[in-house]
Amino acid sequence: MKTKQIQLKYRPKKISSDCFKLVESKIPALKKNQVLVENLYMSVDPYMRLSMEDGADLDAWKLNSALDGPSIGIVVDSKNKKFKEGDIVESMSGWQEHFISEGDGFIPYISLNTAIKKRIVPNGLNAKDYLGLFGISSQCGYFAVNNATKVNKGETFVVSSGAGNVGMMASQVAKIKGMRVVSSTGSNHKAEWLKDNLGIDFVFNYKEQSYEEALKKGCPDGIDLVLECASANHMSACMPLMNVGKTILLTGLIDIYDNGGKVKDFQNLEFLLYSYLTLKSHVFMDYLDYYDNFIKDVTSWYLSDKLIYKEEIVEGIENAPSALVSLFEGKSHGKVLVSI
Ligand SMILES: NC(=O)c1ccc[n+]([C@@H]2O[C@H](COP(=O)([O-])OP(=O)(O)OC[C@H]3O[C@@H](n4cnc5c(N)ncnc54)[C@H](OP(=O)(O)O)[C@@H]3O)[C@@H](O)[C@H]2O)c1
Repeated sequence: MKTKQIQLKYRPKKISSDCFKLVESKIPALKKNQVLVENLYMSVDPYMRLSMEDGADLDAWKLNSALDGPSIGIVVDSKNKKFKEGDIVESMSGWQEHFISEGDGFIPYISLNTAIKKRIVPNGLNAKDYLGLFGISSQCGYFAVNNATKVNKGETFVVSSGAGNVGMMASQVAKIKGMRVVSSTGSNHKAEWLKDNLGIDFVFNYKEQSYEEALKKGCPDGIDLVLECASANHMSACMPLMNVGKTILLTGLIDIYDNGGKVKDFQNLEFLLYSYLTLKSHVFMDYLDYYDNFIKDVTSWYLSDKLIYKEEIVEGIENAPSALVSLFEGKSHGKVLVSI
């Protein structure tokens, strides 16, 4: 039986679909303890742009080899007692139609092996929800507001890349906790959607207004929590508006991932000292002890229409490269998954 996978042809200066290629190969016969998985969906995520760099902090993708990334699949053949045909499994073996796994030991985001984890799909949900609704970006947004720091009703929460998966989840958890939410996005269409559908209190298009001007207008009582997803410029503009003793969580800087990967300018650092601020890295993996609570809360909010989740499904493994590129062009809105 034949299968297809996407490989990286070269390391680009600017991401484009052209740096990827589609490769066909034969699936080898299974050995003892091995499992054959057919991928159903894979996730494309901003951090993957960093994996395309040689010597990246995260595991760098090798050229002309299988890539890794979150995926959900179904066991189609098994010589391993722990897995049977029809089991739904999560893995880090995306970017391919099939893969052979040595068994369990899966840790999200760690791509050192082909380990898999069996997943039970809650009633009313779908297997792909383990990549989207329950995926790493949703976890990142939920943990930011729910677990990373104490927040209070009436406080102001600011998030950049507000129409992305992290931004939408964090904003809605903040609204559930009674916070005032201010977010930025790169299009008027997404800004309207955020206001009309998620009830975000103040949204601005950062391509039309400066961060300084918009945030001053949107945060008349100062800022109590920032979740930084996009850029050092946004974070710099938040600094002077921070209320004393409050927190900035730095979770991502998509602005630099396809632009050399280095922050060139960060302003207003003195407010860290003047306003007794805490600046903290925020990584979803640090909160996995709260994973079961996350699944419980998100399932119940989503099924009772308290939480809106938006995703775009791109059809076909051959379109996975353009799905990843769309994140850096501002074309995506919500979580982007590829149906394999
Ligand atoms: N540390 C963690 O645990 C963790 C986990 C998941 C994600 N993250 C990080 O969180 C951030 C958001 O992730 P996500 O999965 O929700 O993706 P996302 O926000 O959906 O990412 C795509 C969006 O980013 C925005 N964008 C693209 N280029 C930009 C630029 N130059 N400046 C500002 N915004 C830009 C675009 O939205 P607009 O059109 O609105 O600009 C685009 O639609 C990323 O930085 C990611 O690396 C961190």
